[in-house]
Amino acid sequence: MKVLLLGSNGQLGWELQRTCPEHVFLTTCDFPKVDFGSTDSITQCINTTQPDCIINAAAYTAVDKAEQDKDLAYRINHQAVLEIAELCQNNKITLVHISTDFIFNGQNFKPYKPDDSPDPKSIYGKSKLEGEQTVRRILKDRALIIRTAWLYSSHGNNFVKTMLNLMKEKPGLNVIDEQIGTPTWAYGLAQTIWTALDKKIHGTFHWTDAGIASWYDFAVAIQEEGLQTGLLDKSIPVNPVPGHQYPTPAKRPMYSVLDKTSFWQALEITPIHWRVQLRSMLKELEP
Ligand SMILES: NC(=O)c1ccc[n+]([C@@H]2O[C@H](COP(=O)([O-])OP(=O)(O)OC[C@H]3O[C@@H](n4cnc5c(N)ncnc54)[C@H](OP(=O)(O)O)[C@@H]3O)[C@@H](O)[C@H]2O)c1
Repeated sequence: MKVLLLGSNGQLGWELQRTCPEHVFLTTCDFPKVDFGSTDSITQCINTTQPDCIINAAAYTAVDKAEQDKDLAYRINHQAVLEIAELCQNNKITLVHISTDFIFNGQNFKPYKPDDSPDPKSIYGKSKLEGEQTVRRILKDRALIIRTAWLYSSHGNNFVKTMLNLMKEKPGLNVIDEQIGTPTWAYGLAQTIWTALDKKIHGTFHWTDAGIASWYDFAVAIQEEGLQTGLLDKSIPVNPVPGHQYPTPAKRPMYSVLDKTSFWQALEITPIHWRVQLRSMLKELEP
C-alpha cells in the first residue's frame, strides 16, 4: 500500500512515521514542500505521488491565533481539505482525515458519540467541522475521519513539555480544573490509524486514550510521573483554579470527553488509560 502522509512534521505526523508498518510504502510531505494555502501545491504533491491512501495530519492548530487569523484557518482546515477530498474522489484514493473534540460545544455531561450534534464555539472548531463535513460529503465510504483530543508527543510542543519546563522553573503553578477531556499520546493514535487502515475501516469515529482528566489532574500526574522517572528533581505546589483566571481568545469546550466505543469495537483492541500512556511517553524524554 502506497501512503502519502501530509503534515509529517507535526506531532501525529512524526508518530505515524515511526509506527509505519513494513508493508506500507510511505511518502511524507510537510510545509513548505506542500502548502495547504495553494491549490497548485496540493495538486502537484498528490499527482506526483499517486498514492492509494492519504493521511491528512496537517492542520492549522493554533486555536487562539485562529480567532484573528480566520481566513488562513479556514483555508487550511476547510478549503485545502476540500481540494484533497476532490482529488481523492477523482483518483480513487482512500483518505484518513483527523478532526477534533472542539467541534462540540462542551455542554454534555456524558461522553460525546460520533453522531452527536456538533456546535463548535471557536474558529478552529468551526473550520475543522467544515473540513470533516466536506470529506464526508465528497468521499462517503472512501474516508476514515477520526476525532481526537488533547494530543501530546515527545516531538513538538505540547502541554506535557510545557508543564515539565514550568515545573523546573517556577516555585508553584496554577492550572485550570474546569475543562474536562482525555490526554492522548499521539503515538497510540498513530498505531490506531495503521490498524484501522489494515482493517479497511471507514466512517467517523472517536479516538483518545481511556479515562478522563481536567488540565489540573493532568498537570498533577505529569509532576508525579516526572518525579518518578527523574525528569523532575523537586516537587512544587500545583493549584486548581477556575478557567476565568486564564481567559483565552478562543472559547474551549468545558467537557469534551469522546465516546470511543464504536471504534474500539471495530478495531478489536484493548483501551489503554491515559496515565499509562503518559508514563510511556515520559520514558522517551529520559536522558
Ligand atoms: N494537538 C491537539 O491537541 C489536537 C487535538 C485534537 C485534534 N487535533 C488534530 O490532530 C491533527 C494533528 O495534530 P498535531 O497536534 O499533530 O498538529 P501539529 O503538531 O500542529 O502539526 C500540524 C502540521 O500541519 C502542518 N501545516 C501547518 N500549516 C500548513 C500549511 N499551510 N501547509 C501544509 N502543512 C501545514 C504543520 O507544518 P509546520 O510544522 O511546518 O507548521 C505541521 O506539520 C490535526 O488535524 C489537529 O487538528 C489535534
